Amino acid sequence: MYNAFFGFTQNPFNMSPDPAFLFRSAQHEEALANLIYGVQSRKGFIVLTGEVGTGKTTMLECLRDFLYAQQIAFASLFNSRLTVEQFFEMLSYDLDLRCNRLSKTEVLLALNSMLLERTSAGRTTVLIVDEAHNLAWDVLEEIRLLGNLENRKGKLLQIILAGQQELDRKLEAPEFRQLKQRIALRCVLRSFLPEETLAYVNSRMARAGLKDQQVISPELMEEIHLRSQGIPRLINAICDNLLLTSFAMETRTATLEMLDEVTSDMRLEYPGNRPFRTEETYPGAVLRPSHARIQAD
Ligand SMILES: Nc1ncnc2c1ncn2[C@@H]1O[C@H](COP(=O)(O)OP(=O)(O)OP(=O)(O)O)[C@@H](O)[C@H]1O
Ligand SMILES: [Mg+2]
Repeated sequence: MYNAFFGFTQNPFNMSPDPAFLFRSAQHEEALANLIYGVQSRKGFIVLTGEVGTGKTTMLECLRDFLYAQQIAFASLFNSRLTVEQFFEMLSYDLDLRCNRLSKTEVLLALNSMLLERTSAGRTTVLIVDEAHNLAWDVLEEIRLLGNLENRKGKLLQIILAGQQELDRKLEAPEFRQLKQRIALRCVLRSFLPEETLAYVNSRMARAGLKDQQVISPELMEEIHLRSQGIPRLINAICDNLLLTSFAMETRTATLEMLDEVTSDMRLEYPGNRPFRTEETYPGAVLRPSHARIQAD
C-alpha cells in the first residue's frame, strides 16, 4: 500500500519467513551454519529452539534452500499436530516412498531400505519438524526410534527438531533421556540486541529497495527495540504499521507520536522503564503524561 510512496519495490516488513530477506545476525548465521554442518556431517539429532517470532521457521526455510541446491532429499513437517498414522503418511509422501502409505509397517520397511540405499551411495536424507513443541508424545517417540537407525558410518536419517522453548522442557521428560543424550547439536535463537534491531530494520528496508532510509531515526529505532523487545516478528509488525501511519499522514518521517499510536493499537506490552526523553531527542513529540513524569524524575 505504501510501497510507491516510500520508494519500495516490495513490502519490507512482510510477515512470511522469506529467505530473500534474511538478515544475517551473528546468531542466525551461527544457527544456519550449525544446521548445515549437522546435516552434512550426519550428526543425527539437531534441536533449534527460541522464543516465539525469533526466526526459527526462517532458518528452516534457508536450510531447505540449501538442501534443494545440494539435491539432498528431505521431508519437512510444518504441522506438528499429527497422529502417528498421519506422521508416517506425510513422511512417505515427502520422501516419495513406494508403499501402502497408510500402513506404518510398510512405511517403515520402505523407509529403512531407502535410507540404507541412499547412505551406501553416500547420500544424506533429512527430516525437518517445525513446531516440534506441539508433537504428541507418541509421535515424538516414533521420531526418537527413527533417530536410532544407523550403520557404521553414522545416522541414516538426520533429524531437525525446531520449536519454542517448551520443546526443551519436553525433551527433559524421563522417557526422552536417551533422545536428549543423542542430540548432537543445539542452536538457540534469542531476541536481538539494540544494534541488531537497527541493522535488521535497515537491512529489510534496503532489501525492499530503500537504501540509507531516513524514515525511522536511530532514536526512534531504540524505542522500537524497547517496545518489540528485539523480537523480529514484533519489529516487523511495528515497522509495517509505522510506515502505514506515516503514509496516511503523508510524511516520510516517522515520529514518536506515531509509534505511540501504533503500539497502543497493537496493545503491546513492554517494560515500563522508558528511556529519558527530551524535546531535543524527539523534536516535535507531544510527550504523554507518563513520559512527562519520567522526565520530571
Ligand atoms: N534473521 C532474520 N532475517 C530476516 N527476517 C527474520 C529473521 N528472523 C526473523 N525474521 C522475520 O521475523 C518473522 C518471524 O520469523 P519466524 O516465523 O521465522 O519465527 P519463528 O521463530 O518461527 O516464530 P514461531 O515461534 O511463532 O514459530 C518473520 O517475518 C521473519 O521474516
Ligand atoms: Mg515458526
